[in-house]
Amino acid sequence: MKSTMSTTRAFCVAVLAGLQPLVAALTIAEINGNKFLSPYSGQAVTNVTGLVLAKGANGFWIRSTTPDNDPATSESVYVFSTTAGVNLTIGDIVSLDGKVAEYRSAVAYVYLTEISSPKNVKILSKGNTVTPLVIGQDTLSPPTVQFSSLDGGDIYAVPNGVSNISAVNPVLKPAEYGMDFWESLSGELVTVRKPTVLLRPNSYRETWVVGDWATTGKNSHGGLTMSDKDSNPEAIIIGPPLDGTKNPTDSKMGDLVEDITGVVQSTFGFYYILPLTAIKTTVASNGAAPPSSLQGTGNCRAITVGDYNVENLTPTGTHITKVAGHIANYLKTPDILFVQEIQDNNGATDNGVVDANVTLSTLVNAIANLSNVTYAFVDIDPVSDKDGGEPGGNIRQAYLYRPEIISLYNPNPGSATDANEVLPGPALKYNPGRIDPNSDAWTASRKPLVAAWRAKGAKKPFYTINVHQSSKGGGTSLQGDRRPPINGVVDKRIQQAEITANFVKQILDQDPRARIITAGDFNEFTFVEPMKRFAAISGLKDLDDVVGLPAEERYTYTYDMNSQALDHMYVSPALATAATKYEHLHVNSWATAADMVSDHDPSVALLNLCGCA
Ligand SMILES: *[C@@H]1O[C@H](CO)[C@@H](O)[C@H](O)[C@H]1NC(C)=O
Ligand SMILES: *[C@@H]1O[C@H](CO)[C@@H](O)[C@H](O)[C@H]1NC(C)=O
Ligand SMILES: *[C@@H]1O[C@H](CO)[C@@H](O)[C@H](O)[C@H]1NC(C)=O
Ligand SMILES: *[C@@H]1O[C@H](CO)[C@@H](O)[C@H](O)[C@H]1NC(C)=O
Ligand SMILES: *[C@@H]1O[C@H](CO)[C@@H](O)[C@H](O)[C@H]1NC(C)=O
Ligand SMILES: *[C@@H]1O[C@H](CO)[C@@H](O)[C@H](O)[C@H]1NC(C)=O
Repeated sequence: MKSTMSTTRAFCVAVLAGLQPLVAALTIAEINGNKFLSPYSGQAVTNVTGLVLAKGANGFWIRSTTPDNDPATSESVYVFSTTAGVNLTIGDIVSLDGKVAEYRSAVAYVYLTEISSPKNVKILSKGNTVTPLVIGQDTLSPPTVQFSSLDGGDIYAVPNGVSNISAVNPVLKPAEYGMDFWESLSGELVTVRKPTVLLRPNSYRETWVVGDWATTGKNSHGGLTMSDKDSNPEAIIIGPPLDGTKNPTDSKMGDLVEDITGVVQSTFGFYYILPLTAIKTTVASNGAAPPSSLQGTGNCRAITVGDYNVENLTPTGTHITKVAGHIANYLKTPDILFVQEIQDNNGATDNGVVDANVTLSTLVNAIANLSNVTYAFVDIDPVSDKDGGEPGGNIRQAYLYRPEIISLYNPNPGSATDANEVLPGPALKYNPGRIDPNSDAWTASRKPLVAAWRAKGAKKPFYTINVHQSSKGGGTSLQGDRRPPINGVVDKRIQQAEITANFVKQILDQDPRARIITAGDFNEFTFVEPMKRFAAISGLKDLDDVVGLPAEERYTYTYDMNSQALDHMYVSPALATAATKYEHLHVNSWATAADMVSDHDPSVALLNLCGCA
């Protein structure tokens, strides 16, 4: 038995050696190669020589002592071992044997090239100088627009996920593509000069920054805003410090921090810098956004219209008071307010309750306590557990309106399952009503809430549609393996956008001068397929375009490295006038994690709804 086993074992080693020969005296650049995956993956290597740059809990990083001149080949590499580095000091030059490995902890991520199972670690010399590469000075500057050659020029192209970096393994073009740039520095010790924080850290205290290199999309507060075909590959996320200190939790968009030195490592779906020590703030930005400057006239000539995803609003707790504070003090109590994510009267308790009148009355009372405005409200209860969101919460859209200025026009409320229709007139069959609520486009999602209103002094009604499309759940990271990245649930959002757009079109087909406002959390960017179709079919205009807001100031949300706009207000041509105004209030995007009230920013518009133009 014993001899059979050792024969088998010897046989295996022979096969292994046959397939994976020992490769002696490769440089680190040769091991990394000029692609994402090492040409020596799976092979044993001996006498790999390098300078110890940094040490972490599970390994250490070494830089070649015999570099090449190719910017595509990283001169440094991670040596994965919890033990082999214990006697090493930064500044040692070592030689070692090991195996070239490609590691990722999930299939959606790109691989990290590393040397695993190191042995024969020999210290050749000690006390050598370790100099980090200053990004943009000792290296190329990070590309600012494109992530990968496999994105076809548009990281949000539909269909997504048509190729994988790990399968194609393209040659790195670090001057052109952001992922290639960071991959070409894998394992390298780098310094980020004059970093600016792009947004609050995630729950692991990981913080996106840019350094003093050229950027595109920088907004006036210091964040980076995405735009069509530019999702800011020049940003880098700063991970957990190698010395065991902890990054701050109170960083926020626009904070300036001390220069950051650390190693470049792909992990958890992104290229990180693992800093030697924790981020230190030098100049904190102003986290308090200014309130709305827009004022209505109390009649149809100038009506303020707000929009706010209030994030799982329940009747109890402090959240509702904070939301009321935003509506009173920052939105300045708009005449009509589109809200999303109003939960039912017992919040996330899943017991069949769908009524939200207690939630909405409590919000109205809290706003009244802080202002002189007592809103009326209208919503339609969903069928329990059919509209997605937090289980049991039965989130829905609702309108708050100032009844002395705005009233429902010929009210005739529909139920959760009544499909609203555009009747001759135009007129709505149900007011308010839901659009095509039984379509499978809305499975586990929120049906649009449409209503017709009369503004004080107006000759004709105006129409509103309050939307909350399916979220991007199940997507893959912007720096993940799949290219272009999976834009989660984009097919459903295309269907949803088309249904809403066709409803709008039916009104405008009858009356091209109809006044229509469609607003809410579309969970999509204006330059991506669902919203492109929405605008093309409906004929509505994006208010950001109408008022000519600079592209970099168009954001209502922060995610990964980007300031971005998921919330929009679209208006019919009759409302796209020179008098129209529109503001995004960055009460949450600029705030620290502790101070943020909702994950979305609210917006306010000023519109003439008289219907006499
Ligand atoms: C190991 O590599 C170094 C150069 O990096 C070379 O000087 C040395 O001779 C090599 N040793 C062996 C045993 O191959
Ligand atoms: C570290 O040094 C100690 C003391 O010389 C030695 O016993 C140990 O084997 C070394 N460990 C490694 C991983 O080289
Ligand atoms: C990409 O990789 C994923 C995960 O392994 C796989 O499911 C998918 O089919 C691959 N796509 C292509 C185009 O090869
Ligand atoms: C909510 O609606 C129920 C049923 O119509 C009613 O009894 C209750 O008084 C309402 N509560 C509030 C706060 O409006
Ligand atoms: C409004 O103010 C009154 C009096 O201060 C307070 O009792 C009540 O709880 C407040 N209501 C809300 C909803 O904040
Ligand atoms: C409410 O109205 C009164 C009287 O017009 C005014 O003095 C007060 O400042 C207003 N309060 C708020 C919060 O707007």
